[in-house]
Amino acid sequence: MMKLWIAPAGLHVEPAQGRDAGELARIHAQGFYRGWPREEFSGFLGEPDTPVYIACDARRRIAGFALIRQAADEAELLTIAVDPKWRGKHVGRALLRAALDDLRMSPARRMFLEVDEQNAAAIRLYSGQGFTRIGARKGYYPRPDGSAATALVMARDLG
Ligand SMILES: CC(C)(COP(=O)(O)OP(=O)(O)OC[C@H]1O[C@@H](n2cnc3c(N)ncnc32)[C@H](O)[C@@H]1OP(=O)(O)O)[C@@H](O)C(=O)NCCC(=O)NCCS
Repeated sequence: MMKLWIAPAGLHVEPAQGRDAGELARIHAQGFYRGWPREEFSGFLGEPDTPVYIACDARRRIAGFALIRQAADEAELLTIAVDPKWRGKHVGRALLRAALDDLRMSPARRMFLEVDEQNAAAIRLYSGQGFTRIGARKGYYPRPDGSAATALVMARDLG
């Protein structure tokens, strides 16, 4: 049975497929200082412990994606990115909600993530879905100028 979640702006969320790796790498590179190569995404796709969700239109043009890692009773949001031209339309929220909904079927009881303390959009997205700050890691994210940003660690219980 095909999994599918309704998203705003005529989009929907569904599981990513192996052929999406190049598109995921492209969108990721637009969202982060250090992109991940396509091969990295190919490795995650198709593995049951690293589900990837895409938000796309009826022609499967991808607006954003979320990548989760599951281990025993914990889940981690490894990355989430929305194409710049699709941001601010609640696509990120739809992706996160779909992942949280799907995780209800898994053994995971708690979900974690790390976020740059200066990333207001992402922090707002996560807070809105029930994540709270549980700690911080100093010097975690490299910046183009050679400095490093502090990461907040956030978590929430699942279902
Ligand atoms: C973070 C990101 C995934 C959010 O995706 P998005 O689809 O634009 O987010 P949404 O439209 O679903 O918005 C979610 C919430 O964040 C808020 N928000 C969105 N952009 C914002 C901004 N630039 N500043 C402040 N708040 C913002 C929205 O208002 C919304 O909150 P609300 O429901 O209370 O109104 C997207 O900005 C992105 O791809 N950024 C680059 C990659 C990145 O930083 N990923 C997260 C790394 S941990």
